[in-house]
Amino acid sequence: MALSEDFLQELRSRNDITSVISGYVQLRRRGRNEVGLCPFHGEKTPSFTVYPDTESFYCFGCGIGGDVINFIRHAENLDYIDAVRLLAQRAGMDMPQDDSFDDSMRTLRMRIYEANREAARFFYSKLNSPEGKRGLDYLHNRCLSDRTIRTFGLGFAPDSWSSLSDYLIKEKGFKPSELIEANLAFKNKKGGLTDRFRNRVMFPIIDLRGNVVAFGGRIMTDEKPKYLNTSDTPAFKKSYNLFALNKAKNSKSDKIILCEGYMDVIAIHQAGFDFAVATLGTALTPEQARIIKKYTNNVIICYDADEAGQKATARAIEILRKENLNIQVLTVPDGKDPDEFIRKHGENGHIRFKMLIEGTGTDIEYRLKKLKDSFETDTADGQVQYMNEAAKVIAAIENPVERNIYAGRVCEEFSVTKTEFERLIDSIIKKNSRRDKRREFDKIKNNLAVPTSNSAAAARGRKTRAQKAEEFVITYLMNNPDAVKAVSKKLEPTKVSEGLNRRLYETIISRYENGRDVSYTGISPEFTMEENSLIVAMISVYSPGLYTYDACMECVQTILNDSALLSAKELSAKSDEDVQAYLEAKKNKLKNKKPQ
Ligand code: GTP
Ligand code: MN
Repeated sequence: MALSEDFLQELRSRNDITSVISGYVQLRRRGRNEVGLCPFHGEKTPSFTVYPDTESFYCFGCGIGGDVINFIRHAENLDYIDAVRLLAQRAGMDMPQDDSFDDSMRTLRMRIYEANREAARFFYSKLNSPEGKRGLDYLHNRCLSDRTIRTFGLGFAPDSWSSLSDYLIKEKGFKPSELIEANLAFKNKKGGLTDRFRNRVMFPIIDLRGNVVAFGGRIMTDEKPKYLNTSDTPAFKKSYNLFALNKAKNSKSDKIILCEGYMDVIAIHQAGFDFAVATLGTALTPEQARIIKKYTNNVIICYDADEAGQKATARAIEILRKENLNIQVLTVPDGKDPDEFIRKHGENGHIRFKMLIEGTGTDIEYRLKKLKDSFETDTADGQVQYMNEAAKVIAAIENPVERNIYAGRVCEEFSVTKTEFERLIDSIIKKNSRRDKRREFDKIKNNLAVPTSNSAAAARGRKTRAQKAEEFVITYLMNNPDAVKAVSKKLEPTKVSEGLNRRLYETIISRYENGRDVSYTGISPEFTMEENSLIVAMISVYSPGLYTYDACMECVQTILNDSALLSAKELSAKSDEDVQAYLEAKKNKLKNKKPQ
């Protein structure tokens, strides 16, 4: 991937970081910087900062940071090149012609989409062939109509080791490596390909742009695993996709029904409700909640009635609340899942389900009812316990009007005066807010102590004195390129701790030698998103312009001293045998060097 520096520079100057970010975050001026509530994690006091000086942003709460391109990548879930595309579009710039940058990742993704599309066609045609009769019977038995099968593009993976791979390679010209990347096949012991999906009915997963990105496959017996799903690939991330969102997004309804399973979604659609979606065999993620929020403000959670489903409901409520979505909870009676419920009622399935939708309560009603069921509220003791717990649920509601309504209801139920109950709620609110503040503060503190050396996912811990000095020098050089020459003469890259710090330092030197920009925005494309967060964390500690050349040289000296100290220590820590072996090796080296 190589976009020209000129292009990137123009892209950045036409997409001022403050104005881009203010499209997502309400920013307030603080000194030279702008602050706001972080869009990447829930918080009540702003720890998200935009630094116009270095054209970067950083959140002290969650540790995400970077340049304007990184911001778009995080905010829109895009990869690098698509984020650049979006910003180019925003600024009315043309992307450079394809031959000026090699975009191998994008090409691979396109190939995976194509392979998946052909695979979906293959599965569909098999379902409607003699070979697929078992699959078709299975789906008919589950009361799916041919029309439903067609609209969801359901299919059948034959009971054979490699019929799909053979077809895609021989007839459609795909390379084995592409099928492996697409997770449609894997390499077997003999070195050939084995299809991932065999003898299963197939559910294609289609993204919002209409690409077939993955599959779910259900076995037709009681064998395990019941469902097999595509693992994450370069074209698919489970936690960012929802089954049938491509259909639900076109619904006239202003709601979304969130289910657990493919079959639930399909049954609900077939019953006439075209706004059901499902997570893909995992718990709901914050990313999925954010995607839902783009289409609607109203979510009906419709999980299985079993214990696992109820636990998942509680977690989903928490995640959806963070996105400020209005939540309702639909409880399917008799411990059934939505698909079974609709089927059981046959002809009346759709009417009965409609009644369930109309009868749903809010998430708070759901939680209060769950609580009430768990205490013996016909005893005074149980009543007190229930009221205490209910107060906690109500205290967590942010909207005071909403709080008031639920508080009123609970009091009415037990003929308790409202003032006492409200006082209880208020004291919990105060306690919570103190706790939240403390947590945010702790987070900020921890983040400032993140070691910026080594792997991007580096564990939290204390930085050594030398590491702090390295960070200072690196930041100083980014802002003062005229010092690069002098520093690089004194400080060899091998003296800088291995990992991110050393790569940064080497990058700065080599870019400087080639007359390229060494500022943060110049080097940022050479590092991953995670690394960018760490780099900006580093920069935001040492604000530019505040420090002198002498301070930088002092830090260089610290690094050199400490590294000398370290190697002496290392040597003395070695056992006698190690030292012996070391001397032996040195002798041999000398021997070999002797002229013959
Ligand atoms: P049916 O039995 O076909 O009606 O499926 P269901 O949707 O009722 O199944 P269940 O409630 O057990 O599972 C809900 C969802 O979890 C499924 O749609 C799958 O996405 C996922 N899932 C279920 N079983 C498995 C499994 O064995 N492996 C994986 N990876 N996912 C599973
Ligand atoms: Mn089911």
